[in-house]
Amino acid sequence: MKSQLTEKFRATFGRAPQWVARAPGRIEFIGNHTDYNGGTVLGAAIDRGVWVALALRDDGERRFATDQRGDLVTLPAGELKKQTGSAAWTNYPLGVLAALPEFSQRAPAGFDYLAMSDLPVGAGLSSSAAIELASALAFLAATQQSPDRATVVKIGRHAENHFVGVPCGILDQGVSGFGRKDRLVFIDCRGPTFTTVPLPAGAHFWIFNTHTKHALVDGLYAARHRECMEAARALGVNLLVEAPPAAVLAAEKKLSPVAFQRARHIVEEIARVGATVTALGAGDLAQVGQLLTASHRSSQTLFENSTPELDFLVDALTTTPHIFGARLTGGGFGGAVMALTSEKFSAGDAAAVSAAYAKQFGTAPDLLHAQTGDGAELLVT
Ligand code: GLA
Repeated sequence: MKSQLTEKFRATFGRAPQWVARAPGRIEFIGNHTDYNGGTVLGAAIDRGVWVALALRDDGERRFATDQRGDLVTLPAGELKKQTGSAAWTNYPLGVLAALPEFSQRAPAGFDYLAMSDLPVGAGLSSSAAIELASALAFLAATQQSPDRATVVKIGRHAENHFVGVPCGILDQGVSGFGRKDRLVFIDCRGPTFTTVPLPAGAHFWIFNTHTKHALVDGLYAARHRECMEAARALGVNLLVEAPPAAVLAAEKKLSPVAFQRARHIVEEIARVGATVTALGAGDLAQVGQLLTASHRSSQTLFENSTPELDFLVDALTTTPHIFGARLTGGGFGGAVMALTSEKFSAGDAAAVSAAYAKQFGTAPDLLHAQTGDGAELLVT
């Protein structure tokens, strides 16, 4: 990918890039919508992601290119306006440029910028966090700044919250920033603090991307965010993580049915994340799988961010041999299902589930046997 990137950069801008950075996509392992509620979450960086190449210009112009679209977006350095239409993808690097000063970092003035990706977009694997982190590392290298990794992660999230306009938590950027091959990233979102735990040998990930996306997905995500904050307020806490599960159950009559369901999902999901860390430590993948499937059921019934397509896949997968568990991964309302499998689960097994899905819904999901990978890095040019 790096040589393709350099070649495309030369073809587009007529010179070599000065800096190249890469950031991976992520799998949300368990902890659905727990992050912005101050809870805990586990994720894995995968071996696919976004690459950004950059070279400075001295005429104050910023030129953005991507392998996903043909046209170049050219903006004057001072301009940080939200873009629309075919230029909307530049809101990720622009959001990072706008976020840098908020973290006492300078933004480079003029530059040529190219982003390339081998991550399926809209698959719930967070291509947005990957482009934010790769952009941040390239911009920081170009201005000879090296804040700590947690700051880089926060810059990415700030871009998403304040420029792109999605009230996401720290999961995607945290995992893309702190991922490590053969390990899961554990985030305590209140700090936030980032650590990793080993993934037991013999655990495999399969991603089934349905390519379905609820038309109102961003609004629905924001609505869940709002409902959680309202539930916290009704329970007398700042964030749902502060409410003990027993107190939530005891408050059923006091809360609206929706607030009760959302709060119950969050506090029980946080408990499942803790139980998953324990089961991973014991190498008990069967138990981990049960927790993953329980997480999906809770998303389906209490948090109501699943869809018939995702439920179909989870039902089919959890009745297939060599699967420990399956759940929707990411924000929900469409997107992808992740299955945790043993090495015995084959491409043929995956194809059988895919065929059953196609029979029901008319199109087959995309399959990805994802490998874990390392977090974001600046590459030597
Ligand atoms: C999206 C958001 C994350 C997280 C998940 C749900 O991926 O970007 O911050 O909230 O949804 O767990």
